[in-house]
Amino acid sequence: MKVIAINGSARKDGNTSILINIVFEELNKEGIETEQIQLAGATLSGCRACYKCFGQKNKHCAQDNDILNELIDKILPAQGLILGSPTYFSDVTANMRAFIERCGLVARANDYMLKGKVGAGVVAVRRAGGIPAFNALNLFFHYMQMVMPGSSYWNVGLGRNIGEVWKDEEGLNTMRDLGKNMAWLMKKLYP
Ligand SMILES: Cc1cc2nc3c(=O)[nH]c(=O)nc-3n(C[C@H](O)[C@H](O)[C@H](O)COP(=O)(O)O)c2cc1C
Repeated sequence: MKVIAINGSARKDGNTSILINIVFEELNKEGIETEQIQLAGATLSGCRACYKCFGQKNKHCAQDNDILNELIDKILPAQGLILGSPTYFSDVTANMRAFIERCGLVARANDYMLKGKVGAGVVAVRRAGGIPAFNALNLFFHYMQMVMPGSSYWNVGLGRNIGEVWKDEEGLNTMRDLGKNMAWLMKKLYP
């Protein structure tokens, strides 16, 4: 079993990446393979509303000039998907929003191709706006007919500079509990 994490941060190996890796530790303990893909340095465009994905129905976006289709190809064979994002102006980053728009519409056009996968959102935030960002990720999983594990709090870790999330003990424990619950759920759904 495998979990792919897409990290929408503009900073490589930042707080979101650290939080994702903490979830990964718990998944790895349960024998679940993990891979984090960081979007830092990449630029994903938003959906152009061409609706060609509904015509071609090939599980790819017709706008094939960035890494969106490569991301889809990574996600499709995996049983679990983590979407991680820092909070930017109380929402997910522009890259994560572009991912949601385009992967979401392609999935919709292809018989809900992500249906039944286990999905979890992970958010880094300096101070405020983390919950709207977390909600944006959860709305995606819900619409995609994916299955979401809970945790002991909402999946948000506090920190501004890279590494500051290590000081947020409650946030770290939330990620650990998320990892345990995600592993439990994946084993139930994919024995
Ligand atoms: C453009 C931009 C907007 C931000 N907006 C918010 C915000 O609305 N609320 C907040 O608490 N932190 C905000 N931050 C701080 C980041 O969420 C915080 O530094 C986070 O830890 C970054 O995660 P990363 O290291 O994974 O990139 C913003 C940072 C940037 C660069």
